[in-house]
This record gives sequence, C-alpha cells and structure tokens, in this order.
Amino acid sequence: MRYLTFALTKGRLANKTLELLEKIGISCEEMQDKSSRKLLFTNEDLKLRFFLAKGPDVPTYVEYGAADIGIVGKDIIMEEDRSNYEVLDLGFGKCRMCVCGPESSKELLMHHEMIKVATKYPKIAKDYFYNVKSQTIDIIKLNGSIELAPIVGLSHVIVDIVETGSTLRENGLSILEEVCPLSARMIVNQVSMRLEYKRIKKLINDLKVKIDENN
Ligand code: PRP
Repeated sequence: MRYLTFALTKGRLANKTLELLEKIGISCEEMQDKSSRKLLFTNEDLKLRFFLAKGPDVPTYVEYGAADIGIVGKDIIMEEDRSNYEVLDLGFGKCRMCVCGPESSKELLMHHEMIKVATKYPKIAKDYFYNVKSQTIDIIKLNGSIELAPIVGLSHVIVDIVETGSTLRENGLSILEEVCPLSARMIVNQVSMRLEYKRIKKLINDLKVKIDENN
C-alpha cells in the first residue's frame, strides 16, 4: 500500500483537522511533540503521512501531487484557483469574505464609482467587483492588517475575512457587503482521486458522518 499524504494548513485549522481525524481513528503520535522541528510526520500502521504548510501553499502541494489531500480555507481555494477536487466542507473555520469600510464608503459602492480596494485577495476582489457587480476598481494588494488601509486613507474599502467582527468594530469599520461564506475544505489531487479512490472515498464518508454528528 502506498502512503496517502495530507497537507494541513499550519495553525488553528491543522489543530481542528487533527481533532476531527482522531474521531475517525486517524492519529499521528509523531505530531504531538510540539518541540520537534520535524516537517513530515508518518503513521506507519495506516500508511499515512502529514505535513504542515502555509495556507496558500496547500493547493500547490496538492495540484502537483506532493500531497494527495489538502485541508485549507475556501478563501485560499478561491484565490489560488488550482486544479484540485474540492470534496468536503469540514464545517469549522467558519467566517465570511466581505467588503468592509467606513459607513461613508457605502455611497461609493451604490453608485458604482471608481474606488480603491485594498485586499490580500486580489482575485476574489476582482471576481466580485468585475463579474458580480460590474464595477471597475483599483486593487491595492496588501499582505496583512488590511483594516489599516481605509483608516489611513490608502483605500476606500477592503475585501477581507470577517470572523467575529471585532477587528472591524475596534477600528470603526463595518461590513458593507458580503461576498461569500467561508470554511475549511478538503481538497484532493485529481490523479490521487482515481488511483486511491476506495481509500479516499472511505475517508470522506467517515468524515461526513462525524461532521453531521457535530452539526
Ligand atoms: C484576519 C482577517 C481580519 C481578522 C478578522 O486577520 O484578515 O483582519 O482576522 O477576524 P475578526 O472578525 O474575528 O476580528 P489575521 O488575524 O489572519 O491576520 P492578518 O491581518 O495578518 O491577515
């Protein structure tokens, strides 16, 4: 039997994923040692391997077949636009992609004016404004703390993730429009899906049962 390799998104998503996998009898003892600098972890009995990667890299590892399966946020899947199968909504990591800004920017959105949009997600922002709203915009790509942009006058609005809404509240910004809901998803390499159909299908089915129990 060949190894099935999982690429997990480093951080909270990986922890939640490992909790869920444990519920269906999949664990990786090697990963418990938080002081370890090891990058690739193996469960020899189940012939599984796991590694942690930065979110935007997960779809890349899966598309090239370096990982058979990836666990990553829907935001990253949309932004990276790689050729993988998206097979399951894991039901955690729930948040929303939104257009946010000061209340005063609401007018600009209604009248389809040429506005500046700051975001870590230029593709999602472009798709939304060009294709859904038919509005021409100027996109400014940032790498973090996006909420700063309208506060210091870099942009009129932002396109960003809202989870609890506290970052917006504490900075005097609001949700102006919702782009789409987000959550953690399982993606699968297209060739792996054919070669390892039985094992992957069973994994999806087992996970589905546990996810349904949680909801
Ligand atoms: C994300 C997102 C928002 C914030 C939303 O940022 O970009 O800034 O979380 O969460 P909230 O609605 O619960 O306040 P993250 O913490 O990932 O860091 P970043 O600013 O570096 O992107």
